[in-house]
Amino acid sequence: MIKPADYYEKEISWIAHERMRDFAIKYLNDFPDYFMVKPASSSGKYHNSWSNTIGSDDVAGGLAKHVKAMCYVVHSLAEAEMLSSEEHDAALIATLGHDAIKYGFEGGTHTTGTHESEGAVFFRQCLQKYNATIPYADSICRAIEFHQGRWAKSDPAKMFPEDFDKIGQIVHRADMVASRPMVKFYFFD
Ligand SMILES: [Fe+2]
Ligand SMILES: [Fe+2]
Repeated sequence: MIKPADYYEKEISWIAHERMRDFAIKYLNDFPDYFMVKPASSSGKYHNSWSNTIGSDDVAGGLAKHVKAMCYVVHSLAEAEMLSSEEHDAALIATLGHDAIKYGFEGGTHTTGTHESEGAVFFRQCLQKYNATIPYADSICRAIEFHQGRWAKSDPAKMFPEDFDKIGQIVHRADMVASRPMVKFYFFD
């Protein structure tokens, strides 16, 4: 089984601040086992075909690929929108974790309609577990909790909170772009 912190070695190296990088590694290694093998969408809808593949012991599945593609988009958007390096690192951590609990804490057959809330709970649990204090922790939590935006299944009226900042907006946009049916990333070829 590929370890998430190994699969995202390059993306972790983009995290400039040591405290945030150290947390990201521990956080990734606490992801549910299914994360590296499940497809991004259990129904095949709402995601491109390359991110709907099932992985194996040595091949990453579509969900992990979706997150890798999104990291690339977030890394690029952070530069375009002139995020500070701490904001950039925070956006990457939120990206890595936004779909960590996509199939629920128990890991069922289908993606859950509430995975954004569960993802936020999981992020908080990891912060506590590692007694980690990192910059923009609240922003990361909000970015995860509201990453579905207008497509939040748990509550269709749930859009973005009043204080939704650049970090959350970039994560949401990157998620949407990386999922579009006609979008492909050459580094998977
Ligand atoms: Fe999601
Ligand atoms: Fe996603």
